[in-house]
Amino acid sequence: MAEPSPTPVIAGNWKMHKGPESARKFCREFIQVAPPTTGRTILIFAPALSVCTVREALSEHRIGIGVQNIHWEDEGAFTGELSAAMAKEAGATHVLVGHSERRHVFGETDEQTAWKVAAALAHGLVPVLCVGETIEERKAGRLEEVILRQLHAATTELDERDLRRLLIAYEPVWAIGTGETATPADAADAHGRLRGRLRERLGDHAAGVPILYGGSVKPDNARELLAAEDVEGVLVGGASLDPRDFAKIAAA
Ligand code: PGA
Repeated sequence: MAEPSPTPVIAGNWKMHKGPESARKFCREFIQVAPPTTGRTILIFAPALSVCTVREALSEHRIGIGVQNIHWEDEGAFTGELSAAMAKEAGATHVLVGHSERRHVFGETDEQTAWKVAAALAHGLVPVLCVGETIEERKAGRLEEVILRQLHAATTELDERDLRRLLIAYEPVWAIGTGETATPADAADAHGRLRGRLRERLGDHAAGVPILYGGSVKPDNARELLAAEDVEGVLVGGASLDPRDFAKIAAA
């Protein structure tokens, strides 16, 4: 049976912004202006230090909370790291894996993304696997090779059931934090290639795996991006820091 399209996912990635106090202030303001959560899934990827505050501040609201990174081990001598088990205990429901800043600033490898996806699933966190090409890779005609390699590396060990629990985020590196956005056609093209690969693994169930677009999503371009073929959500960095802007995107 064909899978119905997933409900749109509007996710905010605060990156290294908002400690507990400013996170609480954001939540207070956001719930005043946010659209109803029926018919959409809203997620906030807060810094780990602020996850408990966000969970408390949003406890009456159906909004998911995520961390931006995890280590693949459950515990141990890994100074500065946090595990999937700890994130779960703090109330997180989701985790970003393989964000381009993790890959390109902190040198995270494809292999590590696979370990992190597995750790997240083992602890009942939903991994949001981020993939995307740099401008050099795009200009060299390597878009498909790069994003499918990243998808394959992180998911090849997963069985069908686990693969269906993932969310994917296509985030072209050249569009992140640059004000430059992929066109809806660019997004649809990349998402179509990812969907094609998922279909090889999952058949009709591939339609049930949400693929989010990320990279300079703003209130004025969210609607057209969300309307593009195979785009089931957006992952928003800069514009998710302002409760009004994020609410406008969620309403799009
Ligand atoms: P941006 O970031 O919206 O600021 O471009 C997106 C992301 O990195 O997830």
